[in-house]
Amino acid sequence: MSGQVCVSDFEEEARKILPKAVYDYYRSGADEQHTLVNNVAAFNRWHLIPRVLRDVSTVDLSVSVLGQKLNMPLCVAATAMQRMAHPEGEMATARACHAVGTGMMLSSWATSTIEEVTSAMTSSPGGRGVLWLQLYIYKDRELTLSLVRRAEAAGYKAIFVTVDTPYLGKRCDDMRNHFKLPPHLSMSNFSTAALAFSEGNYGSDSGLAVYVAKAIDPTLCWDDINWLKKKTNLPVIVKGILNGMDAVQAVNYGVDGILVSNHGARQLDGVPATLDVLEEVVKAVQGRCDVYLDGGVRRGTDVLKALALGAKAVFIGRPVLWGLACQGEQGVTKLLELLKEELRLAMALSGCRSLSEVSRSLVRRAEFTSRI
Ligand SMILES: Cc1cc2nc3c(=O)[nH]c(=O)nc-3n(C[C@H](O)[C@H](O)[C@H](O)COP(=O)(O)O)c2cc1C
Repeated sequence: MSGQVCVSDFEEEARKILPKAVYDYYRSGADEQHTLVNNVAAFNRWHLIPRVLRDVSTVDLSVSVLGQKLNMPLCVAATAMQRMAHPEGEMATARACHAVGTGMMLSSWATSTIEEVTSAMTSSPGGRGVLWLQLYIYKDRELTLSLVRRAEAAGYKAIFVTVDTPYLGKRCDDMRNHFKLPPHLSMSNFSTAALAFSEGNYGSDSGLAVYVAKAIDPTLCWDDINWLKKKTNLPVIVKGILNGMDAVQAVNYGVDGILVSNHGARQLDGVPATLDVLEEVVKAVQGRCDVYLDGGVRRGTDVLKALALGAKAVFIGRPVLWGLACQGEQGVTKLLELLKEELRLAMALSGCRSLSEVSRSLVRRAEFTSRI
């Protein structure tokens, strides 16, 4: 592994390593990919307003997320099928999160089992990693519940239920590539071939879109959040909220957290960048549950801006896949450490010694600052 110094260095190298259909699946967004560009660009629409002369010789990045202490407010979002990036896939990611001391959200569509990922995370001594399960609600509720039960038994600490995927977004590259899993891999948490997305004729479409239409429940509504909350004692977080109205609904349904997310711009193209709706959600929630954000986070300064706008922690999706592709566990560890150091530097240069000192006054909309 050569000397990557920022996330885009990892992406550049990963693009050279990965087969085209895999890189396209990981990278792409929906339709014209306007939101994909916007998720990243939004961070430049906010300026940091630093304070000076504050003795920033030590900076504390630690945070408590869903009752668990983490070494930094930057966690790993669920990304499906990580063994396409590296043979150790999700297990490598789990070890890296443990080493760095952060949380990993495991996809329902992982290519490693819920239990394997727990063993990977707990096998190395000394770390401080936490696992959460990302849950797709299947038409088959017993099957859905079996994932929850397995996660409970394996020591996962929360369920992130994805609410923005009644159908898969239209991803043109995957359609052109007739995307499906390579034959030696499967969605390991399912025992039947049909649900493991490992065999079958998906015709000329994206295989994954056909799979979702068959298996995932498009009738999902708020009562299903109630159902899930009744079935588990783990905290339930809704993943995929983009406005204040749904945020209030979520609070009324008693969720433990909201993840402001547009699924990495892979579902509905044309929705705003997540950073641009974060404040609306935070205001609507009024402190009644934690608010998190993912989408387009590529720099330590991006993390800081999201925290200043009210996120308790942020998540990254694609950058982890680039780290994995470059060098498995070591690649992800290096990538997470690199972002952690970027965040530490950004906080120090902004005059913040701990997350409690990161406040709304640290950011201003760029148009507004430039008029001053
Ligand atoms: C390749 C890929 C696979 C994903 N798989 C899932 C998934 O299985 N479940 C889910 O809820 N979100 C999934 N997501 C969305 C991520 O959890 C997250 O919302 C998004 O990647 C954050 O944006 P970023 O990639 O710009 O950091 C996936 C995203 C990517 C890029």
